[in-house]
Amino acid sequence: MAYQMKDDIKEVYFTEEQLAEKVKELGERITEDYRDKNPLIVSVLKGSYVFMADLTRAIDTPCNVDFMVVSSYGKGMKSSGEVQIIKDIEQQIEGRDLLIVEDILDSGVTLSYLMKILKARGAKSIRLCALLTKPARRKVDISVDYLGFEIPDEFVVGYGLDYAEKYRNLPYIGILKPYVYGGE
Ligand code: IMP
Ligand code: MG
Repeated sequence: MAYQMKDDIKEVYFTEEQLAEKVKELGERITEDYRDKNPLIVSVLKGSYVFMADLTRAIDTPCNVDFMVVSSYGKGMKSSGEVQIIKDIEQQIEGRDLLIVEDILDSGVTLSYLMKILKARGAKSIRLCALLTKPARRKVDISVDYLGFEIPDEFVVGYGLDYAEKYRNLPYIGILKPYVYGGE
């Protein structure tokens, strides 16, 4: 049989249906909270691209969308959590109600730094929407205003989330079989 991506998946954490239901729920809350505010909804690429596409279509009030690419100095190079902006938001931030959309909140270091930068640029309000959170990994205090699911400290893929830039196109979220990491 030809290879299928699902052959590499050990366990499905969230099915397409579960994700769709959660996105609908989050979209309804955001619609309610941002009515008449014309929020600027910002996706932090690449991991959040699938979630962003579904979430924004579940929001039934006028909004603007924009995208950012950031890179953190990871792997212990710096503990400051400084973030380099590779691609910036193109729209005016000053006076806007910002909603940051993330795939997963891990240490929170990158995001807390990012939110500081955006606040300094004069955003009227900044809230965070994350599909997943791993509380066990948190290094900084950061609160999620709109949260999808809490997960244990496991590496997940799919629905935008990658392992070595793969599996982003998996329509559900799951964990990989150990041999995938083994490099054979
Ligand atoms: P942090 O919160 O600054 O540590 O960075 C979180 C980022 O790490 C996310 O935006 C993901 O790109 C990546 N990440 C963390 N955990 C996972 C995972 O389980 N699967 C895939 N990517 C992850
Ligand atoms: Mg990411």
